[in-house]
Amino acid sequence: MDPTDSIDMMDPTPQPLIIARGLTRSYPLGDGAVIGINAVNLMVAAGEMVVLKGNSGSGKSTLLSLLAGLDRPTGGELVVAGHSLSGAGGVDLTRYRREVVGMVFQSFNLLPTLDVLENVCLPALLAEKPAEPVRNKALELLDWLGLRNRLHHTPAQLSGGEMQRTAIARALINDPALILADEPTGNLDSRNGRIVIDLLSELNRRSGRTVVVATHSDLADDLATVRIRLQDGALADPPCHS
Ligand SMILES: Nc1ncnc2c1ncn2[C@@H]1O[C@H](COP(=O)(O)OP(=O)(O)O)[C@@H](O)[C@H]1O
Ligand SMILES: [Mg+2]
Repeated sequence: MDPTDSIDMMDPTPQPLIIARGLTRSYPLGDGAVIGINAVNLMVAAGEMVVLKGNSGSGKSTLLSLLAGLDRPTGGELVVAGHSLSGAGGVDLTRYRREVVGMVFQSFNLLPTLDVLENVCLPALLAEKPAEPVRNKALELLDWLGLRNRLHHTPAQLSGGEMQRTAIARALINDPALILADEPTGNLDSRNGRIVIDLLSELNRRSGRTVVVATHSDLADDLATVRIRLQDGALADPPCHS
């Protein structure tokens, strides 16, 4: 056997978690199209804390929706954690959304008729995981997030900060490799915004989980390991690593 074979096989260099090549999403409008993002090339290694900036309309939400498998590219290639999202069918995308990503939104997107514990457990129950371990995991997460005494409150009974911490627990219940947060502090006061950003950073540092946060706020700047700026749907500069 050629000794270099085994060296190749043991190559410890990991594949980037996110690979985008010429990634494009445009929206048809009349005879033309509105650009969401255009020909974005990007590689993100596992374990990074990526902060995504750019003016309103620069394409941040479009990029996050593609990474989340909530939307499909109209051009180019996107591979996340080994899953090719460009050509994926609906069933594959649903599984991808449940198993690979956790998403946090500006508007929390909690189900109003479910309580905190039920909201957090829901994605795992939809993934047909057994109820008892799911409940225990949810309790552990809610403990960490300081919500142990709010288990049976509905979203309407919570503050914005508590709703967003519930949404973070929900995003983590299926142990995703990638956490995506779209303006997670947009509806919070600065104290709660700070808490949410610190939690995302703690997740990143403690568990080595990859986090991508789109935000207007400067709160996350110091905590980023990669900074990306979008302008008119394209990268304004090469990604900046610290
Ligand atoms: N569903 C849609 N239909 C048409 N245009 C859209 C749609 N979603 C986003 N866009 C357009 O794509 C561009 C990027 O939007 P978006 O990704 O929401 O930016 P950001 O999150 O940075 O504010 C904007 O010009 C926006 O109007
Ligand atoms: Mg947006």
